[in-house]
Amino acid sequence: MLHRVIYASEAVGATGVSTLSIAQILGASEVNNRRDEITGCVMFHRGHILQALEGGRADLDRLMRRLLVDPRHSGLRILCDMPIPARVLTEPMSLCADPAAMLGSVGLPCISSVTANDAEAMLDFRKAA
Ligand SMILES: Cc1cc2nc3c(=O)[nH]c(=O)nc-3n(C[C@H](O)[C@H](O)[C@H](O)COP(=O)(O)O)c2cc1C
Repeated sequence: MLHRVIYASEAVGATGVSTLSIAQILGASEVNNRRDEITGCVMFHRGHILQALEGGRADLDRLMRRLLVDPRHSGLRILCDMPIPARVLTEPMSLCADPAAMLGSVGLPCISSVTANDAEAMLDFRKAA
């Protein structure tokens, strides 16, 4: 059974701002997620992080345990965690290229106020794009 987890967190330091910090996260994610058959996407916007992940329960739980102790972000809160019939995300990890447009698609200025419904709507928007 596949599951989807979407969480929000706050970036620490240069996380999500410097190209290096983004490259390091994408690099490790690409390798690990391919190994674990996890697909995902991540968005960095004004010090906030939003990430959607899809995969098997045990693999997602292991990843969430690593994410919870990663000092590059804090205040991790799960917005949704549910079984899904099929994946929406197809790559091991992709970076949202235009966070403002994605947030704008659900009428929000910032990740801080994103709800589970908003996050799901953004995934639909992404799929349609
Ligand atoms: C915002 C953010 C997103 C991340 N996404 C992933 C991910 O999708 N997959 C992953 O394996 N690690 C991800 N990481 C890194 C993990 O927290 C952790 O450092 C990494 O999985 C450890 O992998 P390693 O044991 O191969 O070094 C992310 C880190 C941050 C800060």
